[in-house]
Amino acid sequence: MYYNSIIEAIGNTPLVKLNNLTKDIKGTVLVKVEYFNPGNSMKDRMALKMIEDAEKAGILKPGGTIIEGTSGNTGMGLALVAIAKGYKCIFTLADKQSQEKIDILRAMGAEVIVCPTNVPPEDPRSYYSVAKKLNNEIKNSFYPNQYDNLSNSAAHYETTGPEIWEQTEGKITHYAAGVGTGGSMCGTAKYLKEQNPEVVTVGIDTYGSVFKKYKETGEFDENEVYPYLTEGIGEDILPKNVDFSLIDHFVKVTDKDGAIMTRKLARYEGLFIGWSCGSAVHGALEFARESLKEDDIMVIILPDHGTRYLGKVYNDNWMKDHGFIEAREYATAKDIIDRKNGSDRLFTVQKSQTVDQVVKMLNTEGIDQIPVVDNDHFVGSVSTSRLLEKLIEQPEIKSQSVGEVMDGPIPFVAMDNTLDVLSSMINKENKAILVRDEQHDVHIITQHDILLAMTN
Ligand SMILES: Cc1ncc(COP(=O)(O)O)c(C=O)c1O
Repeated sequence: MYYNSIIEAIGNTPLVKLNNLTKDIKGTVLVKVEYFNPGNSMKDRMALKMIEDAEKAGILKPGGTIIEGTSGNTGMGLALVAIAKGYKCIFTLADKQSQEKIDILRAMGAEVIVCPTNVPPEDPRSYYSVAKKLNNEIKNSFYPNQYDNLSNSAAHYETTGPEIWEQTEGKITHYAAGVGTGGSMCGTAKYLKEQNPEVVTVGIDTYGSVFKKYKETGEFDENEVYPYLTEGIGEDILPKNVDFSLIDHFVKVTDKDGAIMTRKLARYEGLFIGWSCGSAVHGALEFARESLKEDDIMVIILPDHGTRYLGKVYNDNWMKDHGFIEAREYATAKDIIDRKNGSDRLFTVQKSQTVDQVVKMLNTEGIDQIPVVDNDHFVGSVSTSRLLEKLIEQPEIKSQSVGEVMDGPIPFVAMDNTLDVLSSMINKENKAILVRDEQHDVHIITQHDILLAMTN
């Protein structure tokens, strides 16, 4: 079986259960992982639909140029559909977008025009206005306008909605999505609510966007609009794809909370996803914590992949510069060793020594854990607490060799690892860490050394 072109690989993305970040939530939380699309985002779905609808309507003719104002993902989707179908692409985007997104679009053969972020949409320099102007000037060009083109939400009505319904066997009770153009929220919500009007929908909005207040008061409040950093969600306009009657609740999420949750999804769930995914999950879980019951099933759509945010939320320095994580300067393993100035003699025991002998040594030297070596190789370790447990169970092991009763070796770390990393490696089983210096001498860093360094 093969696809005739890359566009046939769009859709049918997996639905995955969150396990580690949802321990305080009743019910099941599933995420629809849209980076499995060939352009690594859910926007492939609507890009294909907007182009095919334009072809059907005779708006887009062979050899035509596609012009769009896009934050990158829609551009990627349009670019790959354009390649498969033989169109040219020009994209305008705001200068707050990641350099990676711009580079990717250029790699896909598109022309990219970068416009200022902090100007109102009607300003002639805005990326909305530049795209419209080019569309008027270039012959045989098509301006998909993802905001107001209803093929956008129709794509999600026809694909994302039915996929989620089938994947949950019709048991979905809550659907949550970040709202930008509104396509993925409202197209999917329309389908799901048609199957079961009881499905509750939660839209995730940013601070600096008009949606939540507009839904709750009917007022388009310009004071709600101010610059923010999260990419893809929140707006300073009301796109036609946002159908407020299909969004039951809005939750606002800060740039910081979204960024931190993005990193947690990678670290604790193995989902290396984009920033708006973190925002969607943070907001959706806040809602779920209050509202989900034991049998409820919430689905959250995760729009894109993490590679596009490597220079931002996945970069520690960027996170510190924005005050999203603490900019504390931690000492390194090298600092700890230097401070001990050679007083940290490393005791080891040979694998062939008896448990009896090792217990005496631990006692005389007053140490809790000791590496076991076989010639020069670090093959295991023993600790006073584990030895005690074993001796209580089987007193006869005292005359056995330590090699027969030892635990796993103490882990080695590099000299430049910081205290926060070192402390995360200390746990019930592991009360020490080994470091090899430039002269290849091995040093031990204990829980006490880390504590001392933290408080000095
Ligand atoms: C990264 C990202 N997240 C979320 C969204 C919002 O999705 P929608 O436009 O379907 O509301 C977008 C859309 O631009 C996006 O690019």
